[in-house]
Amino acid sequence: MSENTTIHGLTSTEVKTLGEHAVSAKSLAYCPYSNFRVGCAILCADGSYVLGANIENASYPVTICAERTAFGKAVVDGKRESGGFKAVGVSTDISPPASPCGMCRQFIREFCDLKTPIFMWDSKGEYIVMTLEQLLPMSFGPDQLHKPDPNKGN
Ligand code: THU
Repeated sequence: MSENTTIHGLTSTEVKTLGEHAVSAKSLAYCPYSNFRVGCAILCADGSYVLGANIENASYPVTICAERTAFGKAVVDGKRESGGFKAVGVSTDISPPASPCGMCRQFIREFCDLKTPIFMWDSKGEYIVMTLEQLLPMSFGPDQLHKPDPNKGN
């Protein structure tokens, strides 16, 4: 594929780099209970990549998924204000690839445009890509909420 061809607005190099980061992020997973490693990489609008991995807990529901770990890092690193996010990559050790869980789809929805591509890599290095809107149709997001007026304290 030529460098100029884009996949959901990403060059083939960006897709390749996103995949490499998502795959390498799996090595950061703390998953002694499930042994199911998940890596996540976010391509930010400023060209940087933010990585995350799942972090499990002896109290199982306290576990945080790779996607939410990555977005938490990215938001506190100021990436939301510096242009936002271009794409999300997720990697697991299974095939066909796993997709972000429902809670993570909603978490991503808070910070990403509905057209944002989510690339899902499998154990063989193949990926499936879908937009956030395809993964979370008819979603509920920030625009639907009443914005409180700080002057009125409501
Ligand atoms: N997991 C993720 O990190 N992301 C998802 O979207 C699905 C599930 C993690 C949570 C848990 O550590 C392990 O995968 C098994 O559910």
